[in-house]
Amino acid sequence: MSRKSHPLDPLFHPKSVVIVGASKTPGKIGHALLTNVLKYGFKGPVYPVNPKYEEIEDLKCYPTVLDIPGEIDLVVVAIPAENVPKVIGEIGAKGGKVAVVISSGFKEVGRDDLEKELLEYGRRYGVRILGPNIFGVAYTPKRLNATFGPTEVREGSIAFITQSGALGIALMGWTIVEKIGLSALISVGNKSDIDDADLLEWLKDDPHTKVVLVYMEGVKDGRKFLKVAREVSKKKPIVVIKAGRTARGMKAVSSHTGSLAGMDSVYSAAFEQAGILRADNVEEAFDWAVLFSTGKVPLGEETVIITNGGGVGVLATDACEVNRIKLLDPPEDLREAFSSYMPPFGSARNPVDITGQATHVEFEGAVESAIKHDSVKNIIVLYCQTAVSDPIKLAEVLVEQNRSTEKPMVASFIGGEEVAEAMEIMREREFPAYPTPERAVKALAAMLRWGRRRKLLDRV
Ligand code: COA
Repeated sequence: MSRKSHPLDPLFHPKSVVIVGASKTPGKIGHALLTNVLKYGFKGPVYPVNPKYEEIEDLKCYPTVLDIPGEIDLVVVAIPAENVPKVIGEIGAKGGKVAVVISSGFKEVGRDDLEKELLEYGRRYGVRILGPNIFGVAYTPKRLNATFGPTEVREGSIAFITQSGALGIALMGWTIVEKIGLSALISVGNKSDIDDADLLEWLKDDPHTKVVLVYMEGVKDGRKFLKVAREVSKKKPIVVIKAGRTARGMKAVSSHTGSLAGMDSVYSAAFEQAGILRADNVEEAFDWAVLFSTGKVPLGEETVIITNGGGVGVLATDACEVNRIKLLDPPEDLREAFSSYMPPFGSARNPVDITGQATHVEFEGAVESAIKHDSVKNIIVLYCQTAVSDPIKLAEVLVEQNRSTEKPMVASFIGGEEVAEAMEIMREREFPAYPTPERAVKALAAMLRWGRRRKLLDRV
């Protein structure tokens, strides 16, 4: 069934893309925007606008938006700030629906007047505005990369909304290296018009997005944000990194995007009530999002740890206790099943220690026993590299097992080069694998917290 139309559809599913300020000069933002849209493979018409040229990149170039022959809906604007409001008027007159305003030089530098004017033009001409002061928008299912970040954006199911442009651009590259796939990447900058709540509302019904990650410095309309977040959290998780925790951090926020950071403890409490998961930092946020991007939902609390290393098993046990993960006391039949995959000196209690002599075959058997047994709801696999085991074979086994079950699974692999390769295989095939047991445990803990909050939200 196709979803109802939404005012932000042109931002993600544009029929065409216009770039005002498209440039022939490599190294300029207007050049990067145009080449990214073309190279990433957007399928519809692309219209460069710049009075200086007849054509750019083999495309006809138009002096103004009004001269474009076809219909327009999404327009990216990268010209000096003073001229932007007038261009918004032209976009509206031509029937454009959403403007992605890259230009800086508005509220963040004290030009509240210019930002107000921009917004007035938008309202008067019926144009929704993303930005200003942003690096753009990408939506991978439509091969849209209207940013001046890297050209390649890895496809996946994490939508990332960021108020920090530089961080967003940096993370675009980082996600490629880390094999983390994105559905959408949206820079919101000054949030003069379109804000986090509007975007969440759209992403809620986006079948390509399984989790929404937000880096924010401030919220414009807290009530609206929390109301929408509550609805979204019932359906898919929202992970927020909220900057400006300290007094000095709050001051830094106000000079960065002109936002009011607000009392940190108030944010934490409000987030919790809306079902939002607050991450302390970027690494944590993406760790959680990688697990959520599997699309799995918590089925219950009881968790088993399966390991070939006693030490990491103990570390993970402590981390589970600290992070409120309930470790299952395996019933007898399950203990018996585990025992058949370990030598007599192993332990079939939880953590299940199949010992250092385990190969991928014993791991496979023990994990399969946990998958099949109803008492187990979540599985943590910990692997320490040994000379008698092959991490790559184990990675391949776990990927398949994870695909075969609805139970959330996480793993941590510790070791050398082959482990790095195994981690890459797992990440590439959407198996949530982490370099330390604590990170694996914390990701699972976040998923279980979301599950508990979701239940509470459903009752309200
Ligand atoms: N219509 C169409 N094209 C126009 C135009 C208009 N009204 N006004 C200017 N242009 C063209 C210019 O001819 C120029 O083309 P050229 O590169 O071929 O010479 C191009 O648009 C850019 O204008 P220019 O005056 O050269 O500005 P610039 O490229 O130095 O800077 C911005 C423009 C938008 C990049 C700059 O003002 C800015 O805001 N930079 C910061 C962006 C940023 O960091 N955003 C936040 C990221 S997180």
